[in-house]
Amino acid sequence: MNLSKEILRSDAEIAERVSQIGKQITIDHEGKELAVLGVLKGSFMFLADLVRQIKLPVRIGFLEITSSRKSDFLIEIVFSSTFRIEETHLLVVEDILDTGITLAYLQQQLELRGPKSIKVCTFLDKPERRKVDIQPDYVGFTVPNRHVVGYGLDYEGRFRNLPFISYVE
Ligand code: IMP
Ligand code: MG
Repeated sequence: MNLSKEILRSDAEIAERVSQIGKQITIDHEGKELAVLGVLKGSFMFLADLVRQIKLPVRIGFLEITSSRKSDFLIEIVFSSTFRIEETHLLVVEDILDTGITLAYLQQQLELRGPKSIKVCTFLDKPERRKVDIQPDYVGFTVPNRHVVGYGLDYEGRFRNLPFISYVE
């Protein structure tokens, strides 16, 4: 698998879109206790840019999900946040919504902790592959059914550092 020469979205297009989403999130959460929860590792770059466009005193946390994509078994969620989830409006930040299985499971687990509300923001959405019914609240871009890399997304651990998105072929 090699990196395609085609750029799906440039860094300038991404910056423009991230700014728009940040503005919308700011409007939607004015006066609310907002915590942004990034799903590692893929969301790290998107989250770093996004929170700079949210003009509110947000808290930031991360979690990692260890999953076996082949068997669709989701194993464990490891949190690294210290705030009280019951007192916050949560915004889960994902790199890409593919089958939706990961996010549906995560949402269910987070609900059990009783946050005031949960919203989902995904940088990319690949709706063609959806297996479970899940509707993200904020979407950066919709992408075709290909393996996308860059801006946090990887193929076998590589290409996360690309400032644009492309795909492997
Ligand atoms: P889902 O449970 O199928 O929605 O899986 C979503 C997870 O699979 C994402 O958080 C990514 O880590 C990974 N993933 C799915 N599609 C892609 C892709 O095109 N590029 C990189 N990672 C992907
Ligand atoms: Mg992921």
